[in-house]
Amino acid sequence: MYSKRAAPLVGNRLLSLAGSAKEVRRFTFDLTDSRLDYTAGDTLGVWPTNCPDLVDEWLAATGLDPHTVVDVGEPMPLVEALRHRLDITTVRPDLLRFVAERTRDARLRTLLRPDNKLELTKWMWGRQAGDVLAEHPVRAGVTDWLAVLGRLQPRMYSISSSPLVEPAAVSLTVSVIRFVGSRGRPRKGVCSTYLADAAPGHPVPVFLRRSPHFRPPADDGVPAVMIGPGTGVAPFLGFLQERQARGARGPNWLFFGEQRRATDFYYADELEALSTAGTLTRLDLAFSRDQRARIYVQDRMREHGAHLWAWLRDGACVYVCGDAARMAKDVDQALRDIATTHGNLDPEEAAAYIRQLATDNRYVRDVY
Ligand SMILES: Cc1cc2nc3c(=O)[nH]c(=O)nc-3n(C[C@H](O)[C@H](O)[C@H](O)COP(=O)(O)OP(=O)(O)OC[C@H]3O[C@@H](n4cnc5c(N)ncnc54)[C@H](O)[C@@H]3O)c2cc1C
Ligand SMILES: NC(=O)c1ccc[n+]([C@@H]2O[C@H](COP(=O)([O-])OP(=O)(O)OC[C@H]3O[C@@H](n4cnc5c(N)ncnc54)[C@H](OP(=O)(O)O)[C@@H]3O)[C@@H](O)[C@H]2O)c1
Repeated sequence: MYSKRAAPLVGNRLLSLAGSAKEVRRFTFDLTDSRLDYTAGDTLGVWPTNCPDLVDEWLAATGLDPHTVVDVGEPMPLVEALRHRLDITTVRPDLLRFVAERTRDARLRTLLRPDNKLELTKWMWGRQAGDVLAEHPVRAGVTDWLAVLGRLQPRMYSISSSPLVEPAAVSLTVSVIRFVGSRGRPRKGVCSTYLADAAPGHPVPVFLRRSPHFRPPADDGVPAVMIGPGTGVAPFLGFLQERQARGARGPNWLFFGEQRRATDFYYADELEALSTAGTLTRLDLAFSRDQRARIYVQDRMREHGAHLWAWLRDGACVYVCGDAARMAKDVDQALRDIATTHGNLDPEEAAAYIRQLATDNRYVRDVY
């Protein structure tokens, strides 16, 4: 297990501007006392605390006594366990099955059938455990509830700084989750809002997970191509800072994308300064919603395919960070298409070429 340290939250800067569909923030932690020895590319784990209002809502919905002492590895009052130890937001199958059994609700039972997985996923989107309890009230003893609640889990975040620039601090780039839930109630992501709404200086339990494969090129002369739409830009700010601090001569090319330039161009000033300093050699931007047809980072990659191919032939390392479900797959396809179009490879050869890049650690991803 990773050792957990408390690091004061000393920076909380809004990166998205008024009018954005997103709330993206840069959080900075003071590491003076926690001695977390990180490298650009590593990941920071954050142990959140459940919001007190949510704990109150959960206690009200179940009618349980907050002072009952429960054993969650160690004995503590239920209210403390709900704050710090138990997952009271995720609609886990165990919880849903329990509610379905107790309420004998036909709709829930149908949703839980093995052939209804897709329907269940759709139903669960935007629903938290509190919404399920409000829709299907259940009265049960504390032991029964403890058996169906999971443990509160830490959340991982790509580190967005370099220790060469900020030795006693570490920063993250986080999309803060707030949405309207199934019953029209405001709902929020546990950890992103725990950080966004914390008081300045709040000590946050954090731990480090090393990513030895995801590092700026060890050879300072090697070119780096970084593809990071949305919060995927996080590690690349650290990579660029690190290469600048090391005086690395290798050129750097960043592909960044978000919805709108006016509100979602995170780190515009920092990237301009890195560009002026000659560290950021190329910056290609894909603002998806600034025109009728969506434009994504892979469209920019294809537009500049010949140039990108030349960088690959020069030994560039390719880094991808951000959404795993859609973006990373499409970017992978774009790389194969570029190898086909500009490298005159057939599709099998192009796929083998990209696979070899990965084997050689020249194509690495940090996707979630
Ligand atoms: C290796 C790794 C690196 C990561 N790096 C970063 C990073 O750099 N920056 C970053 O922001 N995140 C990053 N993440 C994601 C991060 O770990 C968390 O998953 C994220 O912050 C959400 O956590 P939360 O506790 O705020 O939300 P949770 O309480 O976990 O809630 C998330 C859930 O809320 C629901 N939900 C979310 N949005 C909506 C919506 N609009 N409408 C309805 N329901 C919704 C979904 O069910 C979703 O599963 C990374 C993840 C991994 C694994
Ligand atoms: N699996 C999902 O359905 C889903 C949806 C949203 C977010 N997420 C997750 O939410 C987290 C944070 O996301 P984020 O807000 O930082 O960024 P994001 O949702 O990935 O958006 C960043 C940019 O990428 C664009 N984009 C959408 N689909 C793309 C694709 N297939 N290829 C390339 N670019 C694409 C977005 O455009 P548009 O928004 O204009 O399409 C936007 O301009 C991540 O964990 C991500 O995995 C998942």
